[in-house]
Amino acid sequence: MDTQRQLQLNRITKLTTKSHCLESRSHSHTASSELQILTRFIINMARALLFDMAARWWSEKTVAVVTGSNKGLGQAIARELARNGVTVVSTARDTARGLAAVDSAVKEEPQLKEFLHFHQLDVTADQSVAELASYLQDTFGGVDILINNAAMQKFQSEVYEDAVDTIETNYFGTTRVTEKLLPLLRASPFGARIVMVSSQVGQMENFEQNEYLKAKIQEALEYKDEKIVDAIARKYLEDVKAGREKEENWAKNLFQYRESKVFMNIYTRVLAAQLASRPEGHKIYVNAICPGAMKTDLLSSFKDKVGAAKAEELSATVRWTPIEKSATAVTSLALLPVNECLHGKFLARDLEDRPW
Ligand SMILES: NC(=O)c1ccc[n+]([C@@H]2O[C@H](COP(=O)([O-])OP(=O)(O)OC[C@H]3O[C@@H](n4cnc5c(N)ncnc54)[C@H](OP(=O)(O)O)[C@@H]3O)[C@@H](O)[C@H]2O)c1
Repeated sequence: MDTQRQLQLNRITKLTTKSHCLESRSHSHTASSELQILTRFIINMARALLFDMAARWWSEKTVAVVTGSNKGLGQAIARELARNGVTVVSTARDTARGLAAVDSAVKEEPQLKEFLHFHQLDVTADQSVAELASYLQDTFGGVDILINNAAMQKFQSEVYEDAVDTIETNYFGTTRVTEKLLPLLRASPFGARIVMVSSQVGQMENFEQNEYLKAKIQEALEYKDEKIVDAIARKYLEDVKAGREKEENWAKNLFQYRESKVFMNIYTRVLAAQLASRPEGHKIYVNAICPGAMKTDLLSSFKDKVGAAKAEELSATVRWTPIEKSATAVTSLALLPVNECLHGKFLARDLEDRPW
């Protein structure tokens, strides 16, 4: 039983003892009405605990991997999953920074120590992804939850190298990790879960003029073929290399980040279609979520591009979401009760549907 639940149970026990004391004095009017209120309170608490436990399909044997969890949203998701009593493999491309993030979490919340593990992962490197897969297999015999969170964004220039970096990390990085870990996702009556941390900037409404993209999405969904999505991403990079991105109707701003997220969304839909027919006991639920705008390092190069004063001015117009709140949303999606599981959806942070 995790710490929070244990505390709740301890509280119920204490209140029950208090109610026994009141019972022995229940001949007095005050004690009797106090007892009634207390009894109702205890029943409600116990009911909440019971319902909570019924919805709680996971245990410390449930293993989650979070990519890019040395800082920002990823770090907060890793902590939130651990707080819920899930065994978490936090990952980072830089081992020292990754371990420091785990250490600081454990320093602040020592009860997380037994739940937080670490393994190096650079999503752009086949070898690194393969080593993570071996570690998961050897240490835990598989994995139950994959949170694809790692990403980068550059505001500095529109050069081809930036496009390659962004698409390699945000899109091919996500598919590389997912395809490698798919065979490791464990069969269970609760279903394994994949969460793609995406963004509303990747919604198709931002690509209305791009007839090629629209046609290719239909083709990818019809054939349930992720290689078609890879080909779209490669065609985009060729267009950038040839300086054709404007005439080919790729996004007009946010440079390559927007494209990386639209490709991630299309991949999510294709993967969801591929996995939809899996039988009970072997289900894998996959969804994408936009966590909302958060003040993280992802946006740091924006300040470098427009200057601190302009960045401050624009920041005042944004409805920022606290990182913790976004992390709770992603965690809730990953831990949805079995009878409420979603599949093939793009969600806002309140877990409401968003159009792809
Ligand atoms: N911030 C927002 O407003 C916002 C809005 C919508 C969606 N999102 C999404 O939320 C997710 C988390 O972003 P964030 O805001 O928390 O950004 P962040 O603070 O910059 O964190 C990004 C994480 O990804 C890691 N990463 C980058 N390249 C990697 C690679 N090749 N291999 C492994 N890890 C790598 C970073 O590691 P390093 O420290 O080594 O760079 C870092 O841990 C992203 O998917 C982002 O697109 C963010």
